[in-house]
Amino acid sequence: MNTQELKQEFAKIFKNQTAPRVFASPGRVNLIGEHTDYNGGHVFPCALSFNTYVVIAPRADKKVRLYSANFEKLGIIETDLTHIHYDKSQNWANYPLGVLSVLLKREYPIKNGFDMLFWGDIPQGAGLSSSASIELVTATALNTVFDLRIPMFELTKIGQEAENKFVGMNCGIMDQFASGMGKQNHAILLDCNTLYYQYAPLKLNGVSILLCNTNKPHNLIESKYNERRAQSEQALADLQKKLKINALGELTEEEFDKNAALVIDPVCRKRAKHAVYENQRTLRAVKALQANDLEAFGKLMNASHVSLRDDYEVTGKELDSMAEAAWKQPGVIGARMTGGGFGGCVVALVKNDAIENFKKNVAALYTAATGYTPDFYIAQAGDGAREIKE
Ligand code: GLA
Repeated sequence: MNTQELKQEFAKIFKNQTAPRVFASPGRVNLIGEHTDYNGGHVFPCALSFNTYVVIAPRADKKVRLYSANFEKLGIIETDLTHIHYDKSQNWANYPLGVLSVLLKREYPIKNGFDMLFWGDIPQGAGLSSSASIELVTATALNTVFDLRIPMFELTKIGQEAENKFVGMNCGIMDQFASGMGKQNHAILLDCNTLYYQYAPLKLNGVSILLCNTNKPHNLIESKYNERRAQSEQALADLQKKLKINALGELTEEEFDKNAALVIDPVCRKRAKHAVYENQRTLRAVKALQANDLEAFGKLMNASHVSLRDDYEVTGKELDSMAEAAWKQPGVIGARMTGGGFGGCVVALVKNDAIENFKKNVAALYTAATGYTPDFYIAQAGDGAREIKE
């Protein structure tokens, strides 16, 4: 839907007479640096040109009414500024309500209710952070409409807190950061230990970022994700008995290898190995990109997938079949799972003139292996959360 259509839909659903405002916040794809964010390592995502849009207008009373044109059947979800709480039956609306709840808890002056219509073109359940985009578009809209004057950097942390404390998914900062701070034609190198970040231009010369959706919903992700996080924390605690470190991301591969035996449980040891090696790989990959060495970048992407498959164990049959099919194709620079795992997308760098054959061949191999039909999208690196003014 374009802005005009979104406003018409808003008027039809809410019959609110106040002139509404429109906001957008994108999904993201992580190019490399997976399961490193909550381990104090680096990530290298870019925001996408797929977005969640919001149309919002304040109300004179305390009512909060939310509607998603992607979940029409759920209708308007209505609550009150004084009754914001998590409820599974609120479904998607727990994300905006989580953000509202964090803002209210921090005593930001939101005194009136509001009507908010959501609509997005980010493929859902594909590991492209549609939920972080809902959080960031909500935070940006409320920040602007209620003149809260919170910097975007802080809004990303509010989004993460909503997800951690309200929704109960113990995610790191990557998705919210990419959605809030994304920049057209750039990826972001973010040090999740210090939150220092730099934009890196994506000059891919004849190569595209292709998203290969397994169409396997990653619905088990919350429990497995929280388990991986706990295993990494256990490994860190074991290492801290000897090493003065705050996060796995502070270790080089050599330092880790020398001290790996301190981690008692072999499963936790593998998890920590991934976190340390993946962080170093990410730094190398960004250097390779800056030196226009795409071949080296691609090899590091492949190695990242292998580590996520064998040491972190978050891939599964679908992501592995997709990545393996991608690796076999002419014109592929590199391919790996992206996001939390257990389904969702593989991200591949593919030479432009090879894309059509790549899609055909990968789809055939992937469907033969799994029974699922994949989808492919070319990713454009888009801007972060913003108001859309005509
Ligand atoms: C999910 C989380 C992120 C990050 C990735 C894995 O997308 O929301 O914080 O941990 O998984 O890299």
